[in-house]
Amino acid sequence: MPVFILGIESSCDDTSASVVADDYILSNVTASQEVHRMYGGVVPELASRAHQQNIIPVIHAAVTKANIQKNQLAAVAYTKGPGLLGSLLVGTSFAKSLAVGLKIPTIEVDHLQAHIMAHFIRDQYSTKPVPEFPFLCLTVSGGHTQIVRIDDHFSMHILGQTIDDAAGETFDKAAKIMGLPYPGGPLIDKLAREGDPEKFHFSKPSIPGLDFSFSGLKTSILYFLRDRIKENPDFIEKNKTDLCASIQYTIVSILMQKLKKAADETGIREVAIAGGVSANSALRAALLEGQNQYNWNVFIPRLEYSTDNAAMIAITGYYKYLKGNFGNPASAPYARSRF
Ligand code: KG4
Ligand code: ZN
Repeated sequence: MPVFILGIESSCDDTSASVVADDYILSNVTASQEVHRMYGGVVPELASRAHQQNIIPVIHAAVTKANIQKNQLAAVAYTKGPGLLGSLLVGTSFAKSLAVGLKIPTIEVDHLQAHIMAHFIRDQYSTKPVPEFPFLCLTVSGGHTQIVRIDDHFSMHILGQTIDDAAGETFDKAAKIMGLPYPGGPLIDKLAREGDPEKFHFSKPSIPGLDFSFSGLKTSILYFLRDRIKENPDFIEKNKTDLCASIQYTIVSILMQKLKKAADETGIREVAIAGGVSANSALRAALLEGQNQYNWNVFIPRLEYSTDNAAMIAITGYYKYLKGNFGNPASAPYARSRF
């Protein structure tokens, strides 16, 4: 009899629920919040309210799609942090209440570890083996940019991380400067396909070790566009695709340069990417190039498991369940990364 676990994700602006049977995904249902688009970024108060509206229908849909009864669940796994506290509180409170009602344990999941654990998901599309330990993972999301060495499912070490902005934030801010709607990352990706990545050159930071910095790039994009607009008010409109391609090329180069350095320094050739920015087509292509060029064995999550989703929470829940690593009914969510 498989272990059925419900995963709940509510750390930012996606309300998501997923059911796993052991490590196999039966359902993964996500309600994204459109309300933030008109504000050019996530409004925490509105995100919490939207989670309140979405959480029951989303969980109902995930359980129905999994074709199980709630009383078959062995545990409820939920994102405990990091994220927006108001958003996390909705998922946390719901998970705890549901677990009490069903007389089953909760499992607390760290959102960033879960992005990495997405590589252990099996579903109807799984064709490749999972990464072997130890492997490296470049975790790139809206709030975080890290290179992590994973020694086993529960032993992860950050080798380097951003000292200021995250890669996703840089995509989103660059898009905002160009007047593109939020979230800008996917739109830059789309427009970049038609553009020339070598047309404009932006400076890359020189940060020691395996850390990253993106705040200088953001400022250089801002000043570059400000100066060009003075000369030609239509500059952005006329050069949109080339700008997107050049900005994307710069961000991906910064990420790949440090990932290569990490692989060289550690001698690890199992290399993965995770988090929302791992949906980026140029980053995916660059990783595949690394496979040929550096003889890496690369792992790229399916798009559905790159951006925020509850399947990654449910799979982490499953591995924690096997270890008997259950949640504390009195614990509270955390906003900042603890791992
Ligand atoms: O992991 P995620 O869904 O949420 C957080 O945990 O932050 O990541 C969201 C980030 C946003 O900054 C979004 O613009 C970026 O991932 N993103 C992308 C793409 N898809 C999502 N950035 C570049 N290209 C994409 N295709
Ligand atoms: Zn995320």
